[in-house]
Amino acid sequence: MKLIEARGIAHHFDYPLFNDINLTLEPHDSIAIVGVSGSGKSTLLHILSTLLRPDHGSVQMLGKPVDSLDNRRLVQLRRDALGIIFQSHYLFKGFSGMENLEVASILSGEPVDEALLKRLKIDQVIGQKVTELSGGQQQRVSIARVLTKKPSIIFADEPTGNLDAETADEVMALFEDYISAHQAGLVLVTHESSLAMRCKYVYKLENQRLVPLK
Ligand SMILES: Nc1ncnc2c1ncn2[C@@H]1O[C@H](COP(=O)(O)OP(=O)(O)OP(=O)(O)O)[C@@H](O)[C@H]1O
Ligand SMILES: [Mg+2]
Repeated sequence: MKLIEARGIAHHFDYPLFNDINLTLEPHDSIAIVGVSGSGKSTLLHILSTLLRPDHGSVQMLGKPVDSLDNRRLVQLRRDALGIIFQSHYLFKGFSGMENLEVASILSGEPVDEALLKRLKIDQVIGQKVTELSGGQQQRVSIARVLTKKPSIIFADEPTGNLDAETADEVMALFEDYISAHQAGLVLVTHESSLAMRCKYVYKLENQRLVPLK
């Protein structure tokens, strides 16, 4: 079954962002979307991840048309199958890193994975309050939180924006291992072309279209 099948997607805010976008994501696949600031990458990610309804077009997710789902089913789909890593990470600020992970763990019934914390190099700091963590540490906690619930599709908007090149590489390797181990898929928005090129497909959002680069 295809993870995502988007057909004829168009959207505008103050100006048209894109038109007739078609995109398919299969299990084990990774897609990178690049493009200049303001071209609409985050907006497209919001549409593909069911958070925003497009002006035109349709999105099928795990074989179901998103349009046909009532609110309860939509919330359930997001909770069970989608892992969304936002450009600005929305951790609960009054909580510790671990408490943030525990919320994800309780909601999904999946345990917090200590090996994942070690791999992200946050196992030593995970007990600290979110506000006491560095920007890059917060980013890695939000990645850990999303992977804790074992999503079928990871949507990541600049997930390595606050990270040094070496840590960014490791995060990318973690995503790669995750999607191959869980038959999952990845849609990655990034400004870093070396990371983008590690994805199976790379598209540039330009002149309101997705231009294939790889
Ligand atoms: N909720 C909204 N309401 C009105 N306009 C919006 C909204 N979200 C985005 N926009 C506008 O749509 C355009 C594209 O924004 P978007 O965040 O998708 O760009 P982006 O490609 O992700 O940029 P960046 O690389 O800087 O993150 C911008 O001009 C932005 O102001
Ligand atoms: Mg953006």
